[in-house]
Amino acid sequence: MSEILKVEDLTVSFGTNAGRVKALNRVNLTLEEGQVYCMVGESGAGKSTLALSIMGLLPQNTEVSDGRIMFRDIDLLRASPEQMRDLRGREISLVFQDAQAALNPIEAIGPQLEEVILEHSDISLRNANRMAQDMLREMGLPDPGRIMGQYPFALSGGMCQRIMMAIALVLRPKLLIADEPTSGLDVTLQAEILQRLRDLVKEQNASILLITHDMGVVASMANKVGVIYAGNVVESADVVPLFRRSQHPYTWSLLQALPRLDDPGRRIEPLPGSPPDMINLPEECPFVPRCFKARAECRDKPKPESIEVEEGHFVACYNPVIPEDTPAG
Ligand SMILES: Nc1ncnc2c1ncn2[C@@H]1O[C@H](COP(=O)(O)OP(=O)(O)OP(=O)(O)O)[C@@H](O)[C@H]1O
Ligand SMILES: [Mg+2]
Repeated sequence: MSEILKVEDLTVSFGTNAGRVKALNRVNLTLEEGQVYCMVGESGAGKSTLALSIMGLLPQNTEVSDGRIMFRDIDLLRASPEQMRDLRGREISLVFQDAQAALNPIEAIGPQLEEVILEHSDISLRNANRMAQDMLREMGLPDPGRIMGQYPFALSGGMCQRIMMAIALVLRPKLLIADEPTSGLDVTLQAEILQRLRDLVKEQNASILLITHDMGVVASMANKVGVIYAGNVVESADVVPLFRRSQHPYTWSLLQALPRLDDPGRRIEPLPGSPPDMINLPEECPFVPRCFKARAECRDKPKPESIEVEEGHFVACYNPVIPEDTPAG
């Protein structure tokens, strides 16, 4: 298996009036061809920033102070704007988190889809129109001909999300980044979208970086999982060891909050406290104030480096959860 995406030590911050928001702090991940990597973490952890970094779509106030993003042998952080334009849509595409906002409000759906096709191929407008309609149909949208003439404001959030998926998938990209592609959809629609993503991987050996805060989605989709907290990947592993033998207390908290069919009366402990201030991140592990395993060392030492605890399973923690404590998978 070969690597399609390798993010190394990615460090990204945003300049604001209140100070620098340290959104990503030396993030590492590797995604193989034909695999799904799920990045999971709570709101504000840096997930969308990661997606936008890979796409080269970070806003003006961004500083990337360290790292590399290798797409095969191209460093995306150092690629020219032309090279990025060429890759985007054709090789790498993004399903934006907020589909309705990502669509152009003053252009009908048809031209928005056709534009992506025409920009990257020699296909005639007529064929582009047919491809666009086929793609909308494939996304389960009824009456694509009519939808092509409509504007985003006239469509529901769920429809916009599926149109965004159509735009992202129409050129059969090798790497798809999907930022919360199913949040806000009802469960049947969610299942349908997830199935399309699985098909993309199976039929075209594509790779997906799937961003979500939903451990249920992770369980049903991931080959590999990264858990991100305050811009740090605190744990990563293949999906089975991550669910069976999670060691970081944050991962453990996320997993124990999952409802279980086999134990419906079980008490679910909510994670206490709130996420850290991303402008004034502490020197020590940022999870300490919310951590049930925190001890003196965690407060006194700089935040822990990632350690490989078993093959392919990395944990950044001084006092990991012991196996007997973890929820059995
Ligand atoms: N353009 C920006 N300028 C300043 N701060 C920003 C900007 N974009 C994001 N941030 C901040 O960076 C941090 C990471 O944001 P990001 O959107 O990546 O989080 P996320 O994990 O995607 O959250 P969510 O689950 O809510 O989508 C947050 O503290 C956010 O407020
Ligand atoms: Mg986000």
